[in-house]
Amino acid sequence: MDTRVVDLIVKKRDGLELTGGEIASLIGGYTAGEVPESQMSAWAMAVFFRGLSMAETSALTRAMLASGETLRWEEGPPLVDKHSTGGVGDKTSLVLAPLAASLGLRVPMLAGRALGITGGTLDKCDAMPGYRTQLATDEFVRIVRDVGFAIAGQSAALCPADRLLYALRDVTGTVESVPLVTASILSKKAAEGAQALVCDVKAFSGAFMRTLPEARALAASLETVGQALGLRIRCVVSDMDEPLGNAVGNFLEVEECLDCLEGKGPADLVTLNEELGARMAMLGGLSKTLNEGIALCREALAGGRPRELFLKNVEAQGGDVKKLLALRGRFRAPFEARVCTPRGGYVMRVDAGLVGRAAHLLGAGRAVQSDTVSAAAGLRLHAKRGAPAREGEPLATLWAETRERLAAALPVAAAAFAIGDAPPAAKPVIVST
Ligand code: URA
Repeated sequence: MDTRVVDLIVKKRDGLELTGGEIASLIGGYTAGEVPESQMSAWAMAVFFRGLSMAETSALTRAMLASGETLRWEEGPPLVDKHSTGGVGDKTSLVLAPLAASLGLRVPMLAGRALGITGGTLDKCDAMPGYRTQLATDEFVRIVRDVGFAIAGQSAALCPADRLLYALRDVTGTVESVPLVTASILSKKAAEGAQALVCDVKAFSGAFMRTLPEARALAASLETVGQALGLRIRCVVSDMDEPLGNAVGNFLEVEECLDCLEGKGPADLVTLNEELGARMAMLGGLSKTLNEGIALCREALAGGRPRELFLKNVEAQGGDVKKLLALRGRFRAPFEARVCTPRGGYVMRVDAGLVGRAAHLLGAGRAVQSDTVSAAAGLRLHAKRGAPAREGEPLATLWAETRERLAAALPVAAAAFAIGDAPPAAKPVIVST
């Protein structure tokens, strides 16, 4: 590359704005292996502290998109995707993708893996026997055409710059940066060929964005840069102060998705799916109002088509449906313990950050991308915010692959529950739109 990388680092370190050409040259050089990790780390840290303007963020997104292929799709139904910034118990994609497909949308979903306390869709998919998330491009396209949706990991061909930069951010403390998250998400979504995107930005203790202003800033950045890329995009900020649903852990979460697709899902998970599904329907031109979209989603779920598509997708991606259904309610890591209520009252809070940490200690998460995760470890919450709690009753059941992991996770899971005397005020699932 022509520009000296150190000059770009210094420029950003000093708070100056980089040109589109400088950013393109940096990302191109990094992807080609010409810019060493040391310099890219320094640049990422400079961005973390100094930020990027909207013009710089757009240029970074375009440069990352240009680092690989863009999927081309035949004429057909609207290509609408959803992305979540990640949370604890966030299994929404496995319900929403078949739901949106059942409405007649095409959903080409490139998903990620668990990181830190947040879970990852690909790990949940991998927990299903036989399910493959590494798909060749033509296979991915064919499954979207035949089933309506496919879920896969990023391949070397799509946004290689994001794969490299994400792994680098992961080990250099530069994940929680609004412009870097924006470029990472949008470059992938543009590369998969989505025409429209719903973004679920998670806020509070179990999310990257710990405060509402931070989450709103990310939502605004995603909308501005997404529109500049030509995407129709809507963001919502949703609550991640308590885990989503009752299951946290890979196979446990797959089971909860099946419950949800069978009309037996926990209220917060069902509500979030209806809200996000309705926005996808609106962006895809299937409904004019949010309420109309919600009604479409409810009707579809009640009719059972999303469940059929879920199972059709499992088969299409190599999964064994019979085995999956047979494992339901039985596939658990061998060491089990419960957290019980220390006193009577009401559950005031179930801290998502601590539940995520407990799930991580149990073996359901990873500290770095190369870690392996357990499919059968995790926890099931028996009570959430507002539930009455009688002394000695179980609040959560935990499963781990080893006695040591169970012992480490138990006090963390117990600390996640706060018990008080009066029921707390109800909190909405969507906190800002
Ligand atoms: N999800 C992504 O794809 N990228 C980020 O940087 C954060 C969440």
